[in-house]
Amino acid sequence: MSDHKNASYISAKESRKITRFNRRVTKKLEHEREAAGKDPSLYTTVMKDPNNVVEFDNVCTYFFADNGVVKAVDGVNFAVPKCSTVGVVGESGCGKSVTSLSLMQLLQRPSGQTVGGQIRFNLGDGTAYDIVKTPTSKMQEIRGNKISMIFQEPMTSLNPVFRIGNQVDEVIKLHNPHMSDEDVKARTLEMLDLVGIANREGVYRMYPHELSGGMRQRIMIAIALACSPTLIIADEPTTALDVTIQAQILDLLQGLKEKLNSSIMLITHDLGVVAGMADYVVVMYAGRVVEKGTAEDIFHHPMHPYTIGLMRSKPVVGRKVEELYNIPGSVPNPVDMPNYCYFRDRCEMRCDRCSGLYPPEIKVSDTHIVSCYRYFDTGEVLDYPKSVNVEEL
Ligand SMILES: Nc1ncnc2c1ncn2[C@@H]1O[C@H](COP(=O)(O)OP(=O)(O)OP(=O)(O)O)[C@@H](O)[C@H]1O
Ligand code: SF4
Ligand SMILES: [Mg+2]
Repeated sequence: MSDHKNASYISAKESRKITRFNRRVTKKLEHEREAAGKDPSLYTTVMKDPNNVVEFDNVCTYFFADNGVVKAVDGVNFAVPKCSTVGVVGESGCGKSVTSLSLMQLLQRPSGQTVGGQIRFNLGDGTAYDIVKTPTSKMQEIRGNKISMIFQEPMTSLNPVFRIGNQVDEVIKLHNPHMSDEDVKARTLEMLDLVGIANREGVYRMYPHELSGGMRQRIMIAIALACSPTLIIADEPTTALDVTIQAQILDLLQGLKEKLNSSIMLITHDLGVVAGMADYVVVMYAGRVVEKGTAEDIFHHPMHPYTIGLMRSKPVVGRKVEELYNIPGSVPNPVDMPNYCYFRDRCEMRCDRCSGLYPPEIKVSDTHIVSCYRYFDTGEVLDYPKSVNVEEL
């Protein structure tokens, strides 16, 4: 981007060039989205595997920022099977939230855009929507009804000036406009019961500040599950809670998932949370999936050096160590990613091959896929990740 000695320095001329470029590209992309939204054949598709709820297929979500293009999610491939929990793990800034926001179409537009790939969402009638092209009016029918989201900090998601009951009522009413007020209230009380609130009539009349963090997160879960969604996205649902409450909330989520036959996409940087709950695990690094498989594959046979590093940096009860392992180095600058393996500069297992192109996906067993050259000769080589050349947009 900049040929100045200091890569983070941008001259006024360069800055104007970036602004002009961003304005042109985002305007074009918005235009294309609007046109696609008018023609159902452009956003209606079929699932590759009808047993999946959602399929991310080479998804690229970029931010056209003042300092250049941030490739927050770049060629992400994974699926969430029906009635299962998929844990998405990786360190801060690796693109976990942007992946889920792309699925909900809640990106900060126009600067945030999904520029490539498909996100197929199963409608359950043999068809699917490609969320990337689905118009906002259709998305409003999906959000809350079919996919709902639980955020990290419940206090910022609940409105401090409305009573709890009114906030849950509002969501139920919005999705069921023909329901009478009595039925809406009965449903709200039923939801409060379901999420384990003992004094439900009292809590119905309370304000968010009168509740503890754990109670507030239960309310958020009640709101998210009010319309029995097929997919629940939980983005760091327990990070703001202490450990005992964390365990209760995770148990609650797991129990409700089974009751409602939903799937959960559980986003977290905490491997402990994923270990207890997930059926499948997706490990992300710098906007890409580096390894995915069943929980057994990832926890008992980790293969990517990054996943191995994550496992080593996790404290284990009963194992005495002088010092916890710490993966050396840091994530590359997202505006200026290298064209070789993104983990290479931190990798203690790199070999000659690692200076070549970014590694392809390599299938090491029926359920286990890893993007690393160490397995190039032993596994089945699948695709290389497909990035989008922004100059061609
Ligand atoms: N609105 C935005 N504008 C520009 N860049 C953004 C924006 N939102 C996210 N990003 C960038 O996208 C990348 C991925 O961010 P994301 O929020 O998905 O990370 P994350 O994996 O959820 O991290 P955390 O664990 O901290 O929540 C980061 O480099 C971030 O700086
Ligand atoms: S491809 Fe090479 S540098 Fe990258 S993670 Fe694998 S061994 Fe390390
Ligand atoms: Mg996040």
